[in-house]
Amino acid sequence: MSASPSIRRIGILTGGGDCPGLNAVLRAVTKTAIFQHRIEVFGIEDGLLGLVDDRVRALTARDVSGILTRGGTILGSNNRCNPRRHHVGHDEKGEPIFADVTDRCLATISRHKLDALIVIGGDGTMSAASHLVQRGINVIGVPKTIDNDLVGTEITFGFLTAVDTATDALDRLHSTADSHHRVMVCELMGRNAGWIALSAGVASGSDVILIPEIPFELDVIAAFVDKRMKSGPGFAIVAVAEGATPRGGSQRVVRHDPTSPDPVRLGGIGHWIATEIESRCSVETRTTVLGHIQRGGAPIAADRVLATYFGYMAIQALVDGKKARMIVRQNNEFGDMDLLEVANRQRRVPVDHLLIAAARALGTSFGDTAPHPTVSRTAVVV
Ligand code: F6P
Repeated sequence: MSASPSIRRIGILTGGGDCPGLNAVLRAVTKTAIFQHRIEVFGIEDGLLGLVDDRVRALTARDVSGILTRGGTILGSNNRCNPRRHHVGHDEKGEPIFADVTDRCLATISRHKLDALIVIGGDGTMSAASHLVQRGINVIGVPKTIDNDLVGTEITFGFLTAVDTATDALDRLHSTADSHHRVMVCELMGRNAGWIALSAGVASGSDVILIPEIPFELDVIAAFVDKRMKSGPGFAIVAVAEGATPRGGSQRVVRHDPTSPDPVRLGGIGHWIATEIESRCSVETRTTVLGHIQRGGAPIAADRVLATYFGYMAIQALVDGKKARMIVRQNNEFGDMDLLEVANRQRRVPVDHLLIAAARALGTSFGDTAPHPTVSRTAVVV
């Protein structure tokens, strides 16, 4: 097949926090572009930072051969770069100084004669990329994040592997909790969305699942745990999303980085809940913070397949003449949506999600007192 007349050279980057499947997308995009359309592919290093600094290298089919199964990204990534507000230093008081370096990105794109960019990222990267769209650059987005919180797509690649990793951790905590008659609290990632905690919590049969979308009450959790300890199996597993909050309270923040486009890093809720359970229920309680283990390692088969679809579809969108779109999956079908609609928005778990209703029916506590929510039958996680 021949190259689309207007698309001869493309740039590709992986932005934001890394996740399993990035390399699988890079492989799918590069091989489809070269083999099917004779489009040249250029890898941009460390996400949008590589555009700012002009770190761009040609990618051949050989470069992406054998990377399907590898975690991380051969291009490197960065979750601190927004060219519109780029951190360039500090003033004499130590306050960060920012500058708009979009023109440097445009110069890099023009220097390498790139006809379009394929941007693999989450909402932060898509937001930053949308400014390039407004400056006339054609960008096709590929939805990435373990958090699964991008609007417009029912799934992002990386999520299923993170759920698998979290489920494995919760399974392991189960057996040690049982042996020692303890409560085990496991803090999981996800930012402001509870998709990982909900899915892994259900998959592992966790007793309590706490997600940001359902504010919890410590009294409810303590009563539930107490009952399990005294008249149940004598141990309990609590899967808590890093963004979960007590009713009327606020999220716990582990660090704040004013130089990052998304300055808040959540964390600490697991330890706090464990301390509260221990003192309220007089039961030995331990905490595991799974952290970046959820982002590392090889993608599971389902994510390799999803990443391959997404990469292939991104090139299809380009050769079909599409502009400023993000590839999505909805109702198990692949399509695309306006990239500008994705920027700065997050898809959270609906509280009437079918999986929440199913878990409640099985006796799982969400730390709240709402027993019979209306159930949406259309929302499915995986
Ligand atoms: O968005 C992915 C994610 O792993 C979140 O789940 C988590 O809150 C955040 O990134 C952690 O970011 P960092 O790698 O900067 O600590």
